[in-house]
Amino acid sequence: MEVADLPKGVASSNAGVIAKRLGTISGGRILDVGTGNGAFIDTLMKTLRDYDSLVGVDYCPSAASREEMESARRRFQGKPVDFLEMNAEDLKFGDESFDTVCISHSLHHLADVDKVLGEMRRVLRTGGSFLLQEMYCDGNQTEAQRTDTLQHEWQARIDSLLGVTHNKTFSRERIMNTVSSLELRELEVYDSTHSVDCLFCERRYECEDPKNQATYHDSIKEIDDTVRRIEDYPDAEIRNRLKEEGERIKETIAEFGLASASYLFIIGKA
Ligand SMILES: C[S@@+](CC[C@H](N)C(=O)[O-])C[C@H]1O[C@@H](n2cnc3c(N)ncnc32)[C@H](O)[C@@H]1O
Repeated sequence: MEVADLPKGVASSNAGVIAKRLGTISGGRILDVGTGNGAFIDTLMKTLRDYDSLVGVDYCPSAASREEMESARRRFQGKPVDFLEMNAEDLKFGDESFDTVCISHSLHHLADVDKVLGEMRRVLRTGGSFLLQEMYCDGNQTEAQRTDTLQHEWQARIDSLLGVTHNKTFSRERIMNTVSSLELRELEVYDSTHSVDCLFCERRYECEDPKNQATYHDSIKEIDDTVRRIEDYPDAEIRNRLKEEGERIKETIAEFGLASASYLFIIGKA
C-alpha cells in the first residue's frame, strides 16, 4: 500500500515507516507473548518479509480470554500458527528456540514484567529480533488520545478489582527503561500516533475524525460491557463510583472524541 493512498493522520504517523521496516525482517520462528486474540500475529503476517511459523501464548485469565484464544485458533486455521495457553513467566520452550520474540500492548498487563521479559530473552536466539509495542500515557497527546488513556485506566481498575492484572498505562520513560534493561543491540525506537493496523483498516478514513460515529458507538458499547462485568461486585459504593466514572468518560468521549494513545514500537537484536 502506498503512503499516498492513506489519510493525512495515518500518513504523517510512523505507521508506514514501521510497516516498511517490518517488511525487511525475516521472522523465522516467531513467539508472540500475551497474544490475546492474535491481533499482532495478524499484523506480522501482513508486514514481515517472510516467516516460518508463529506461536501465540497467553495465560488466559478468564473464560472470555479462553474463548478469545479459541476464536483466534479458528481464524488462523490452516496457517502455520499455534496458540498455547501458557504463563509467559515460565515459558515451556528451550533456550534460544525462537528467531523473533514479540510483545504487543501487553507490558502493562503483566504481574511480573522482568520475569516475562527475562523469559522472552532466554528463548530468543543470539542475533534474533525482539519486537515490542506499547502505548504510553504522557507526552504531547491530543484530548481525544488522552480520553483513550482515561478509558483504558478505568478499565484497568475494573480488571484489577476482578482479579485480572492490568496496571496503569506506562509512561514513555518507563517503557524505555524497561527495554534498556534487556541490553539489546541495534535498538530502533519509533513513536507513532497510529498503529500499523491502521494501514489496512477499512475505517482509516472515517477515523481521521476522532468524533466519528463508528468509534463513538464502539467505545460506548465497550464501556457498557465493562460496567456489566461489575454488576455482581459486592461493594455497592465502589461499584456505583466506577459506574459514575464510566458515564463521565462517555461524556468526555462525546466532547473530545476518541483516538488511540501514542505508542512506542521498538526493535532490537539479542
Ligand atoms: C491487551 S492484551 C494484548 C493483546 C495483543 N497482544 C494485542 O496486541 O492486541 C494483553 C494480554 O496479555 C496477557 N497476559 C498478561 N499476563 C500474561 C502472562 N503472564 N503470560 C501470558 N499472557 C499474559 C493477557 O491475558 C492479555 O490477553
